[in-house]
Amino acid sequence: MTYEEKKQLAHDYLKNKESEIEFRPFFNMIYPFTTENLAGFFNADLVKDKKILLTGSSADQILTSQLYDAKKITHFDINPFAEYMYNLKKAALKELSSFNFLDYFYYNLENANSFRLKEYEKIRNSLEGESLDFWDSLYDNYSPLKIRKRLFILRDEEEKMNKYYDLIPYLKRNNYELLQEKEFIPVEFIECNLLELANNLKDKYDVLYFSNILGRIEMSYFFNENYIENIYNFMTGILNFTEDEGKILINYFYSISKKDIYDKTNEDAIKYIHYPTSRFNCINNINYHEMVSISEHGRDTVMVYTKK
Ligand SMILES: C[S@@+](CC[C@H](N)C(=O)[O-])C[C@H]1O[C@@H](n2cnc3c(N)ncnc32)[C@H](O)[C@@H]1O
Repeated sequence: MTYEEKKQLAHDYLKNKESEIEFRPFFNMIYPFTTENLAGFFNADLVKDKKILLTGSSADQILTSQLYDAKKITHFDINPFAEYMYNLKKAALKELSSFNFLDYFYYNLENANSFRLKEYEKIRNSLEGESLDFWDSLYDNYSPLKIRKRLFILRDEEEKMNKYYDLIPYLKRNNYELLQEKEFIPVEFIECNLLELANNLKDKYDVLYFSNILGRIEMSYFFNENYIENIYNFMTGILNFTEDEGKILINYFYSISKKDIYDKTNEDAIKYIHYPTSRFNCINNINYHEMVSISEHGRDTVMVYTKK
């Protein structure tokens, strides 16, 4: 999609009637914040001096990678607005205190400050190029709350505001101030479906993070009669872009313990979400282990394959 097409799409979403929202592709909506416990595993050990490929339209995974000094960051996502969201958060980080940052992006029915113009007028001082034009054009035509409600996944039920301080490493006070002073490395953005990702990559990565896309097969392109082949082809393609000893964080699982499988093996976890384990065994040069983080809902797990 060209810049003009993306801008038009955003305006269409804002102009259209509320009742038409449900007809949009779900992942064209931006996540305001990550839904993952990044603090539980996305740390300096994983990221420092690493070439990292990641996803997540909230940009929280990117900003955390900047915090922990990744060597290279490539972001892929099917969401057409991901780059503008990253630039908005990056600019907000430069211009706002950590409380005002959270207050600006956070929305629930009790928070009228969401996307407030007063904060945007500060943020725009650190925006430039397409991102400045994109957000300016929305603020010129629509109310702040309309932008926040129409372009983002609403998630009224989302974590209480303070909870984000625990989940997102760069929001912690010292980290936030550290990140404000940091020289950011440039981020490469690839707008594509996961299934086309391997065709869009050029370089090898040390860390490849696929969030929970593969686990949400009911919502993704993996959910069709070819899904076993799709996952197998995906893994085979991605391994070409993984450095030796590189880690593929294949899926983030929520609340594994609640479903009473946490203490079992990874293979059981894979079976639980219908991963085709036998096909994975065909890829001989990888093995896997798990990393575990703890969220309020239960224990979350990230499954990791290490390329040997
Ligand atoms: C599965 S969503 C869930 C939110 C995620 N747990 C987080 O914390 O950001 C993660 C990201 O995957 C993107 N996504 C979903 N399906 C995709 C697909 N088939 N190809 C590429 N990106 C996809 C969404 O746009 C979203 O930004």
